[in-house]
Amino acid sequence: MSDWSPSSWRTKPAKQLPVYKDEMALKAVENELQNLPPLVFAGEARKLQKQLGDVAAGKAFLLQGGDCAESFAEFNANKIRDTFQVILQMAVVLTYAGSVPVVKLGRIAGQYAKPRSNDTETQNDVTLPIYRGDNVNALEFTAEGREPDPQRMIRAYHNASSTLNLLRAFAKGGFADLNRVHGWNLDFVEDSPLGERYEDLATRIDQALKFMAACGVSSDKVAALRETDFFTSHEALLLPYEEALTRVDSLTGDYYDTSAHFLWIGARTHQTDHAQIEFVKGLQNPLGLKCSPDLAPDELMRLIDILNPDDIPGRLTLIARMGHEKVEDKLAPLVRKVKEEGRSVVWSCDPMHGNTIKANSGFKTRRFDHILNEVKGFFAVHEAEGTHPGGVHFEMTGSNVTECVGGALDIKDEDLSSRYHTHCDPRLNANQALELAFLIADELKGIQGKTTIKHSSMAASV
Ligand code: PEP
Ligand code: CO
Repeated sequence: MSDWSPSSWRTKPAKQLPVYKDEMALKAVENELQNLPPLVFAGEARKLQKQLGDVAAGKAFLLQGGDCAESFAEFNANKIRDTFQVILQMAVVLTYAGSVPVVKLGRIAGQYAKPRSNDTETQNDVTLPIYRGDNVNALEFTAEGREPDPQRMIRAYHNASSTLNLLRAFAKGGFADLNRVHGWNLDFVEDSPLGERYEDLATRIDQALKFMAACGVSSDKVAALRETDFFTSHEALLLPYEEALTRVDSLTGDYYDTSAHFLWIGARTHQTDHAQIEFVKGLQNPLGLKCSPDLAPDELMRLIDILNPDDIPGRLTLIARMGHEKVEDKLAPLVRKVKEEGRSVVWSCDPMHGNTIKANSGFKTRRFDHILNEVKGFFAVHEAEGTHPGGVHFEMTGSNVTECVGGALDIKDEDLSSRYHTHCDPRLNANQALELAFLIADELKGIQGKTTIKHSSMAASV
């Protein structure tokens, strides 16, 4: 690793990076970012890696979720609260119904840059650069809006900073106290079948807490009942931004990208000799790697050797995004190979990115049953291979959007236009996300019935 530095990616071929017209303006922004405080601390990233090590060992479950793309337009306190709240609800369902500690990781506080399949977009004979996320350019279809603007990185940094501030306050300041479990139900969820199922579970948790309080164990005495750990993540894509936030940890002398606790490599930028892989390999943050159906087992092993040469548990999460039809065929050889080679990884299932379709109405959407089927296929592969289905990765929001079709409230193609707000891919709304959590809890219970998840060293806090 001697030739690695936070800027060594600059000598490698790079995909998906914007071309800034004004290099001086870019340089000025990079300098400004380099002088701004880190957003996360190295010790927090190490804590997450340790918890992910528990997931790799089959003692815990990873729940990663949030927007496909955060946006400046939707940046407000209610939105942050609602996303946090739904993740808490899902975690409580998985912890209580699935009896497994849950590691909570948001796609939040920095998920502002997007890889795209095409470089340009054409509307009514006008062709402009594609939208690459609010960190790069504007969604608005004008020549000015689509021009990459480095100043957007400064705004993204400050948005991420205040998002993180609020998340920390929620996680440690009483909002996540288990005694508030009823209060996490959002208004529009309350009256749905899922809302009722959640209320029922919350009542049982309440009773357990009352019993424990009578025994002298209560949230004013036990931090695990009062607080939670919540970590942040985004795709390691926009390297000028990520490099500027990469700092040496004064305790260990190691490099951490302080823009988030966890960074992942997207399905389009995992070439072993390219810039994104070069950049992340020198970081000590825990890393994710999206695994698409075209990833061959040997190529995956090369990537594991680069990203986790010392085989540290929790260092690497493999996020499979195969599509509901391919998951069993494509995932099994990868899982088998990693097991044969004796490598420690977290296996997580992203049932979103292989299941995007165009609805008759023209909207990009995903069907709830396809998403669920991919999750089930993921569990089936791990059961057959004797490995741990470590977690799930969702694009979801606490808002009452209509972007994915199906689910208990049966959103239809013709409903999509009513509340379709995403800046990029279609997200599960709170009802759909909660429904999936219950269905996954059933899968986890099924596993426990057969093998019992190993006893965990982690407190089963939510
Ligand atoms: C994403 O997670 O938003 C994404 C673009 O995923 P992938 O790289 O798996 O296509
Ligand atoms: Co997406």
